[in-house]
Amino acid sequence: MNRNIEVQIFDYLSKHLSPKRFEHSYNVAMIAVELASKNNVDLLRAQIAGLLHDCAKAMTNKELIDFFKRRKTFEWFKEIVKFSPHLLHSFAGEIVAKEEFKIKDKDILNTIRNHTLGRKNMSVLEKIVFVSDSVSHDRKWKYAKRIRDLAKNDLDKAFFEILRKKVEYVIDSGSWLCPQTVDIWNWYVSNYKKYN
Ligand SMILES: [Fe+2]
Ligand SMILES: [Fe+2]
Repeated sequence: MNRNIEVQIFDYLSKHLSPKRFEHSYNVAMIAVELASKNNVDLLRAQIAGLLHDCAKAMTNKELIDFFKRRKTFEWFKEIVKFSPHLLHSFAGEIVAKEEFKIKDKDILNTIRNHTLGRKNMSVLEKIVFVSDSVSHDRKWKYAKRIRDLAKNDLDKAFFEILRKKVEYVIDSGSWLCPQTVDIWNWYVSNYKKYN
């Protein structure tokens, strides 16, 4: 992976994302790099994963559904398509990263794929971008600053807090909770008991 890829990514994002989403992606990459330096993760990989995490975010729900229908992976996402199709942007983002930028690094691809829902046993890079996405400087929600500060000292604790807030938000808003989220939540509760 060379530095040219950053130029390609900026070029692609500036053409495909709204200025607001582009700014968000840049902010996520900046905080991801900061957290990477504190957690012994390669800075360039954190920057690339941060910049690309929402590379498919500009696609409409219909475009996302068509995207997966074309790739014959539609069946995998039946429930997501029915209840929360916007979640597909993470899965589409992984494919765009592979096809458009020829990214083969499995950790970067997993990071893009899992930046919204998470998964069990996430790598440090995955947790960094998952956290950065929720606490980047453009995020105005109530806990953004507090968890951003927490993440600089304890990435795992910040990650768990965000996972909890995401679950709470879905339940409080009376929305569909992805079955994957229930499994993920239970996995982290049993593996990170110290945070409860
Ligand atoms: Fe996203
Ligand atoms: Fe994002």
